[in-house]
Amino acid sequence: MSTKTIAVLISGNGSNLQALIDQAGEQAYRVSGVVCNRPSAFGLQRAARAGIPSTIIEHGAFPDRAAFDAALLAAIERFQADFIVLAGFMRILGPAFIRARPGAILNIHPSLLPGYPGMHTHRRVLAAGDSEHGISVHFVNEELDGGPIIARSRIIVGEEDSEESLAGRVRRLEHHLYPKVVGWLAAGRLQLRGNAVFLDHVKLPATGMEHPAPAGA
Ligand code: GRF
Repeated sequence: MSTKTIAVLISGNGSNLQALIDQAGEQAYRVSGVVCNRPSAFGLQRAARAGIPSTIIEHGAFPDRAAFDAALLAAIERFQADFIVLAGFMRILGPAFIRARPGAILNIHPSLLPGYPGMHTHRRVLAAGDSEHGISVHFVNEELDGGPIIARSRIIVGEEDSEESLAGRVRRLEHHLYPKVVGWLAAGRLQLRGNAVFLDHVKLPATGMEHPAPAGA
């Protein structure tokens, strides 16, 4: 199996980066570099510990989004990354960036998209009294958390759940699913054609495939 390279873009803790690093051996990818827009992000230490090169590109240092995007793309080029994996990267990417790498940019989001794009998803799920919550992995397009959905995993929201407990439960789903989906992309099993997602040449429904939660999630 040939191994593809991924650049992981982070802004913070980097627990998904850690899961991607830890599970790379079971999948057809390796992390060739980490790009981060915040110098204090803990994820940078995770990269260093794993011997993975990283670069900091602070958005505030650029006059506009286009210049920031160009710097990001240049960094990704330097890491010779086949694919771009957003893992808690808190900046919206501009159209030039997205058009430069069609079908090669993934994001993970802590809600069952298309529900609850944007921030504070756990709080919003609790406020709405929803009985289910979950995560989505999707291709990135120009809409915030709006790109074609590849896979989702879900949990039942319990009476006793709080924002913190949901955050923990959702993170377990993320660490279980994201490395697998990145592995599918790296193995050539996943394609984006127009707005349609194909896994093993089979077109997925608009809400992606349902992936079971890990035991105890
Ligand atoms: C995750 O919940 C992810 O879904 C969202 O940002 C969070 C990143 O967490 N996009 P971490 O930095 O990977 O721990």
